[in-house]
Amino acid sequence: MSVLSPVAKKRSDYRAPDFLIDHVDMAFHLDVTQTRVISTSRFTRNGQHQSPLVLDGENLQLISVTINGEPVTDYHQSDEHLTLNINQNDFELCIETRINPQENKTLEGLYFSGGAYCTQCEAEGFRKITYFLDRPDVLAKYDVTIFADKTRYPHMLSNGNQIDKGELDDGRHWVKWQDPFKKPSYLFALVAGNFDLLTDRFVTQSGRSVALELYVDKGALDKGHHALASLKKAMAWDEQVFGLEYDLDIYMIVAVDFFNMGAMENKGLNVFNSKFVLADAESATDDDFFNIEAVIGHEYFHNWTGNRVTCRDWFQLSLKEGLTVFRDQQFSADMSSPVFNRIKNVQIIREHQFAEDASAMAHPIRPEEVIEMNNFYTVTVYDKGAEVIRMMHTLLGAAGFRQGMDLYFSRFDGQAVTCDDFVQAMQDATQVDLSQFRRWYSQSGTPKVKVTDSFDAKTGVYHIDFTQNTPPTADQKVKQNLHIPFKFELLDEKGNSISDDSVPELSAKMIELTSRVHRITVTGLQAKPTPSLLHDFSAPIKVDYAYSHQQLSNIILYSGDDFARWDASQRLYSRCIHNLAISPDTPDDELLDSMLQAVQGIFDIADVNPALAGAMLSLPSFETLSQQVDEIQVEALYHAQRSVRNLIATTLSDQWSTLYHKQAVVPYRYVADDVDSRRLRNLSLSYLVQAGAPQSSDILLAQFAQADNMTDCLGVLKAAQFGELKQFDQLMEQFETRWRHDPLVLDKWFALHANMERSDILVRLPLLLSHDKFSLDNPNRVRSVLGSFAFYNVLGFHAVDGSGYKFLADYILKLNSVNPQVAARIITPLTQWQKFDEKRRELMRYQLARIADCQDLSKDLIEKVSKSLNYTSH
Ligand code: TRP
Ligand code: ZN
Repeated sequence: MSVLSPVAKKRSDYRAPDFLIDHVDMAFHLDVTQTRVISTSRFTRNGQHQSPLVLDGENLQLISVTINGEPVTDYHQSDEHLTLNINQNDFELCIETRINPQENKTLEGLYFSGGAYCTQCEAEGFRKITYFLDRPDVLAKYDVTIFADKTRYPHMLSNGNQIDKGELDDGRHWVKWQDPFKKPSYLFALVAGNFDLLTDRFVTQSGRSVALELYVDKGALDKGHHALASLKKAMAWDEQVFGLEYDLDIYMIVAVDFFNMGAMENKGLNVFNSKFVLADAESATDDDFFNIEAVIGHEYFHNWTGNRVTCRDWFQLSLKEGLTVFRDQQFSADMSSPVFNRIKNVQIIREHQFAEDASAMAHPIRPEEVIEMNNFYTVTVYDKGAEVIRMMHTLLGAAGFRQGMDLYFSRFDGQAVTCDDFVQAMQDATQVDLSQFRRWYSQSGTPKVKVTDSFDAKTGVYHIDFTQNTPPTADQKVKQNLHIPFKFELLDEKGNSISDDSVPELSAKMIELTSRVHRITVTGLQAKPTPSLLHDFSAPIKVDYAYSHQQLSNIILYSGDDFARWDASQRLYSRCIHNLAISPDTPDDELLDSMLQAVQGIFDIADVNPALAGAMLSLPSFETLSQQVDEIQVEALYHAQRSVRNLIATTLSDQWSTLYHKQAVVPYRYVADDVDSRRLRNLSLSYLVQAGAPQSSDILLAQFAQADNMTDCLGVLKAAQFGELKQFDQLMEQFETRWRHDPLVLDKWFALHANMERSDILVRLPLLLSHDKFSLDNPNRVRSVLGSFAFYNVLGFHAVDGSGYKFLADYILKLNSVNPQVAARIITPLTQWQKFDEKRRELMRYQLARIADCQDLSKDLIEKVSKSLNYTSH
C-alpha cells in the first residue's frame, strides 16, 4: 500500500464554506482528447475572514486564471487543489482548463465512450472538469454553452432549458443551456452525441405542459417506450401521494452503455445506465421491466428529495438516498403487489445489509468517517436508510408523515440540509418525540430483539418479553437502546387475532420498544397464543423467538400479515436447511414433514395470491442463510440447501407439474397478473427439472422453443443450469448466437456462465473474459462476469484451495487502474471474510494483503482493504 495513507474526513469537522458561488458560466469546446473548459464564476466571501480561496480540482491541465478580467499568476497548484490569495469580497473568477475525456476510464467527470460525451459528477466528479468549490452546500445557477462537431454530435445537452444555439463556419455548432434553479455541482450534467429521440408530454396537476425527451442509442427507439411510460406514472404518483409537481418545462433522460451505477438524477437531465432504460418483451425480463420502472421513479423522485432540497455535506447522503429509496419502494408497491415488493426490499437487507454490518465496512446510515465518498453508496446508506424513513412513516402514520414532508419542503426548499433537519421537521409537524429515534442515524449494526414468553394454563396469564440488544460492530463497540416500532399480533389456536382493550399494544398491533426490555401481559387466555412477530418487517432487525413448527405453520396459514406468512415460511425452510447442514446423516423427519405439509398448503395460496405464493415457494438464498449463522460452513450449508430443495421438488413433483400447467401462456405483456403467473411457471419448471420429473426436459425444451419473451427464455436456462441438465451447454450456445449483438442480453448469458457451480469454473471464467464482447472498461460486463462470480458462485468463489479468491484479486488489481469505483464494489465479498471458517478467512485475508501491497492503489481500494485487514473479529 502506498506509504502515505490518505486521511479520513470526519463528519464532526464540517465547516461552512469560506466562499459562495451564486452563478457559473461555462463553455465546453468538446474534443476527444483535448476538451477546453472555460468557467467564469461569481464568488462572494462567506463571513469575516482572510482565508485564501481553495478550489477542488483533479487531473486538470490549467491554462489560465483571471480575476475580474485581470490575469493572475500568484496561485498554488497541488494534486487536489488550486489555492488563490484574494483580497476582494466579491469577484469574478475565470479559469480555463483542459481535460482528456477519452482517457478517462473512471467514468467520473467528463468521459467519452460509445461515441458520445457524458458526465458523472456525484459525488466529487465535478472537480475533474474544472476547479471549483465541489461540495454540495455551494449552490449556484449555471449557464452552459457547448461547442462540437455538428454531424457527429447533433445532440448537445445540459441542465435546464435550451436558450440559444448557432453554427460556426468550421462544421461545429453550439448550444446554450440555462438552469433557472440553483444547484450543487454534483447535479451538473452534459451529454453530446448522436441519438435517437423519443418524445412525449406530461401535463402537471396545475396544468403546465412538460416536454419529456428520452435519448437512446441509434436503432433502440422501440425499447424506450416502457421507460417513458414509467416516467409518466412516476410524475403522476408523486403528485397524488406527496403533492409534488415537476418544476421545469423539460425533462430529459439519456441512456448510456458505460455507467458506474444505475442512474443519476442531474437536474432536468438524468443519465441512465442503458440497462435501466431499454426493454422489450423479447430481450428484457419481468425483473428488468420492474427495475426500469423503479429506477426511473427513483431518479424522478430525487427532483424534490435531493435536488430541490439537497445534502449539506456527503455524510448526509442518506438524507436524499434513504428518503428517495423509500419513495421509490412505495411507488413500486402501488404499481404492483405490495407484499411481493416488501419481500424484495427485505431480502436486500437480509442478504447484503446485514452482511455489511457484520463486516469491517460496518457504518451507520450517516457515516462518521470517509476516505473515498464513492465507497459510501452502500446498502446501509440506501436501503437501511429507507428502512429508517419507513419506521418514521410507521410511527407518525401516513398522514403525519405527509405533514412532516410538507413542512420539510416548506422549510428547506432550495437549501442544503442535514438528516437532523429532516427528523426535526417530522417531529415539529406531528409533535411526536423522535429524540431517541435519532440514534438510528448514528448507531451502526443489526439490532436483535429476543422474544420470550410464558403461559400459565391455570391462571390463563400470558407474559411476553421483548429484549433488544445491538451487538458491537467493527466501527463502534458500545451500543444504545433504540426506538423500535415492532408490529405484531397474537394468534389463538383457531388463528384469530387476540384483542384485549386493556392491552393497548394489542389493539395497536404494535409495540414501541424504547428500553432494553418491554413486557406485555395478557390475561384470560385459554391456551398459549402464537406470537406473529415483526409484521411488514417494521424495523431492520433480527428477531429471535423459539417458534414451534406448529406455530410457524399457523402463521403461514392464518396471520393477517402476508409478510409475516412469507417470513414464517422462510423460517421453516431455514430451520430445515441449518438442521441438515449440521447433521446431514440424521435428518429430523418430523421437521421435514411439517415443512412439506406447509408447502402443500402454499400451493392453495397460489390461486388466491399468486405473488405471495411465488415468494413463499422460494427457499432462502445462500446469502440470507449465511447471515443466520455465526460461522458459515460453505459446503455443508450449500448442500443442505440443495437437499431441502430437492426434497420439495421430488416429494411434490405432481403438484409442481399441476402448477406449471395451470399457468396460461399468453402473448407477452408486462402486467401484474401475467408477471405473477410467469413467476410461478418458471419456479415450477425449475423444481420439475431439479426433480428430474418425467418429461421435464421435454417441457423445458418446448418452453425454450415457444417463448415469446426473455422471462420464459431465461427461466429455461436457469432451470437447466440449476438442474445440471445436459442440454444446458447447447441451449447456451443457441442463446449466444441469437443475442451476441445485444450487450445487455449477453450480460445475462455472461452471468449464467459465471454462476455455474461447476468444478471447472476457473477454466471457464477466463474464456468469458477473453470473449470478444467482454471489456474491463464496461462496468456492466465486469459486474456480469466478475460480480456474479464473487457474489453468487458459492462453491466456485469459496473453493477451499483459495483459487476463487485469487482469481478475483487478480482482476481487482487490473481494474484498480481502469475503474477504481467498480473495483471497490466487486471486492465486497472478499471483505466479508469474518464469517467463514479459519482456513478461508486466512485465504481471503491473504488476497486482501496482496491487493494492499500494490503500488498506486486507488483511495477506494485503500479504504476498503485497510479497514478489512485491520479488523479483528471475535
Ligand atoms: N445519486 C445516484 C442515485 O442514487 C447514484 C450515484 C451516486 C451515482 N454516485 C454515482 C450514479 C456515480 C452513477 C455514478 O440515483
Ligand atoms: Zn438516489
